Amino acid sequence: MKDRSFFIRTFGCQMNERDSETLAGMLSDLGYRETTDRNKADVIIMNTCSVRENADRRFFGNLGQLKRIKEERPDVIIAVCGCMMQQQHIIDTLKSKYTWVDLVFGTHNIHEFPKLLGNVLDERKKVVDVWDQADEIVEGLPAQRKHPYKAFVNIMYGCDNFCSYCIVPYTRGRERSRDPEAILEEVKALVADGVLEITLLGQNVNSYRGQIRNQDKEEAGGGTVMDSSGEYVSFAGLIHMLNEVEGLKRIRFTTSHPKDLSDELIDAFASCEKLCPHIHLPVQSGSTRILEKMNRKYTKEEYLELVEKLRRKTPDIAITTDIIVGFPGETEEDFEETLDIVRKVGFDSAFTFLYSIRKGTPAENFPDQVAEEVKHERFNRLVEEVNRISAEKNRALVGQVVEVLSEGKSKTNKALYTGRTGGHKLVNFKADEDVTGRMVKVLITESSTFSLTGRAV
Ligand code: 5AD
Ligand code: SF4
Repeated sequence: MKDRSFFIRTFGCQMNERDSETLAGMLSDLGYRETTDRNKADVIIMNTCSVRENADRRFFGNLGQLKRIKEERPDVIIAVCGCMMQQQHIIDTLKSKYTWVDLVFGTHNIHEFPKLLGNVLDERKKVVDVWDQADEIVEGLPAQRKHPYKAFVNIMYGCDNFCSYCIVPYTRGRERSRDPEAILEEVKALVADGVLEITLLGQNVNSYRGQIRNQDKEEAGGGTVMDSSGEYVSFAGLIHMLNEVEGLKRIRFTTSHPKDLSDELIDAFASCEKLCPHIHLPVQSGSTRILEKMNRKYTKEEYLELVEKLRRKTPDIAITTDIIVGFPGETEEDFEETLDIVRKVGFDSAFTFLYSIRKGTPAENFPDQVAEEVKHERFNRLVEEVNRISAEKNRALVGQVVEVLSEGKSKTNKALYTGRTGGHKLVNFKADEDVTGRMVKVLITESSTFSLTGRAV
């Protein structure tokens, strides 16, 4: 049989990256191998993101380029999937304007991809199959991982929070938690395969609530992990459970909603030695008035209290965040509240976003949309402040010895190894021997805004 290959382009968050690993695993099982050359691939998949408008635009731009490939090689299969496909107006646009697409599927039926691809290949027809809702969580799908030593592990899917700007509850559906046994089994298999660090994924991991089904409850960790019903494991409980996995070195998670950050989880940073001292805690805005319009369900003061609590228990914890600038109705005073919270917390780093109108979300119809030039001006001021603080935080690490999971040689400088600290800071460092895939103590000698430099000691 001819050597067949696939190319996947992934937009958006770690959820999508993880989904793409599943698609790659399925294709690998079907006998395809991955290629980095889109022009030669037999199957091209675009896994899309709809969280902001520029992701939409980049997708359509990329899809436009595929027309020529399809004209030159009519046998190539062009498939599109992911969050954008969960919106009817996108499907309509694809059908009317992007006729070279062969297969469209969504976030809820990714497990059906091999069958859908088979239908396209066998019947030489276009297939559009998008589900409005998810069935039961499908376990046991294959995955072809991107990284040898670290892995993403989904623990829950969907989001029930309906922040007023956000499309995710519409594209990823209602919250569903995986069973703790299934997660434990996956993590053990990853560790057996050489993985040292796992990142637990969910839109709001703090509301994880996994049902214990088959296993002996004592074996699952007994009373320490179960909530009062005795049937469900909380997110902190799950971390306690995974903390016991032999051979696993590090546990991370993303993303947590401040409104659901429990004391139990704050305590887990101290009591679970494998849980990395880092929390990504999206604040979105520093203005209580805007937070309310965003439907975030916490105030500026409550957020600051959480930060204080976290630091009281875990003084060296790294705190990172997401911030939206220019939400409808945001005034200069509101924006200054955001700058103020950024300074008060002192985030280790922050992802900053210009507010982007999403069709179908409540904020789409809010009055007082902020003018583009005002948004950009505030955005630049915010980034400057965020970067200044990141640089300061990094500078404070110079002269210290940190533990890094070495992922191998740096892509940009082959003389250096690269990896991250427990606080998720990027470190490039010299080492006398091959330290790939090891936990290495590194003395930090230099710092910049986005990374650290050092040498193994
Ligand atoms: N506009 C701008 N940023 C957004 N985000 C989510 N929706 C929007 C939007 N409509 C940001 C939030 C979220 C991150 C993943 O993306 O900050 O935490
Ligand atoms: Fe979107 Fe809010 Fe859910 Fe995060 S918590 S995915 S911002 S709706």
